[in-house]
Amino acid sequence: METKIRIVEENVIKHKDILEAAEIIKKGGLVAFPTETVYGLGANGLNAEAVKKIFKAKGRPSDNPLILHIANFSMLEELALIENEKIKQVTDFFWPGPLTLVLPKKPQVPIVVTAGLDTVAVRMPDHPVALELIKAAQVPIAAPSANLSGKPSPTMAHHVTKDLFGRIDMVLDGGSTGVGLESTVLDMSSEVPMILRPGGVTKEQLEQLLGCVAVDQAIVNAQITPKAPGMKYTHYSPDANVTIIRGELNKVKVRVCEIYQHFQREGKRVALIGTSELVTHEDFQQIQLKVDIGNKDNLVFMAQQLYSILRKCDEENIDEVIVEAVPIEGIGMAVMNRLEKAAGYNILTV
Ligand code: TXA
Ligand code: MG
Repeated sequence: METKIRIVEENVIKHKDILEAAEIIKKGGLVAFPTETVYGLGANGLNAEAVKKIFKAKGRPSDNPLILHIANFSMLEELALIENEKIKQVTDFFWPGPLTLVLPKKPQVPIVVTAGLDTVAVRMPDHPVALELIKAAQVPIAAPSANLSGKPSPTMAHHVTKDLFGRIDMVLDGGSTGVGLESTVLDMSSEVPMILRPGGVTKEQLEQLLGCVAVDQAIVNAQITPKAPGMKYTHYSPDANVTIIRGELNKVKVRVCEIYQHFQREGKRVALIGTSELVTHEDFQQIQLKVDIGNKDNLVFMAQQLYSILRKCDEENIDEVIVEAVPIEGIGMAVMNRLEKAAGYNILTV
């Protein structure tokens, strides 16, 4: 399959390219497009055959449901039951934005989209290219992240082409995405709203509006089966082994030194990701790849860069990645969730 690549700048959206992409969606094809979180791989969300192509192109397990992307509230009413009055409050406040709502589904949503569940996940992305594409296609667009299943999500168009070139019809290149991590998935199909996947909207922000917000226990305990089917799969994995070190800075330094020396003796190529105080330590001067995330109090940069850093580790043939843990507050909850998965829960507490 020939994959067309069209560059669309956020401020100067070329209408022609969006219309061409929308035609592909209408005809049942696949278009990768930027959102404010990560790139999505889109198909007509009401066309079961088109949606099946997404699973094939990504190598995605068929029991992992997709998010439907919409451009206005009336599209939501077509797809989901909106009985709970809190829903309007939440969408008014957070949409467009990095928040996905899980709601009871209406019959017109194809079974492949929801993987047989009686709920559907919907979000309104905060990106002009995504919104224009949905409007032009005039259908909800089903879109998972536009990576091969298991790989880090794409935050730049070249990540998409690396994984999916020749497997999809078009990539709309809108530059780097903003948030860098996926949307928060919030289940509002039952009484107390529950976070099924931490993401761009934080628990603290949701609590401010909703009061009590639960968190799926599987996010904090790897032994429990997650309620969002996609959360049970190994994800975001670079080819390298990933080790997370958690603890007080000085102890972390000592342990990282030990582990690094051990890897060095084995002739391994090592990457170290951590705060300025850690990575600038003189003992780590020789490390093959050092990523300074700055200060732990500001994890916005870390969130934006994380997937790109993990992909860079592959490009640089890194064997071992050592990462300093970050606090599970604000966006840190989503950052740690992705890191834990990338590390296969290989975490050392010192
Ligand atoms: O930011 C995002 O959410 C990106 C962009 C492209 O919008 N999309 C994304 O999609 O991350 P995906 O497919 O990679 O992740 C969707 C997650 C999966 O964990 C899936 O299992 C969960 O949402 N999900 C979808 N429908 C669900 C449902 N009905 N009930 C529970 N979880 C659901
Ligand atoms: Mg994904």
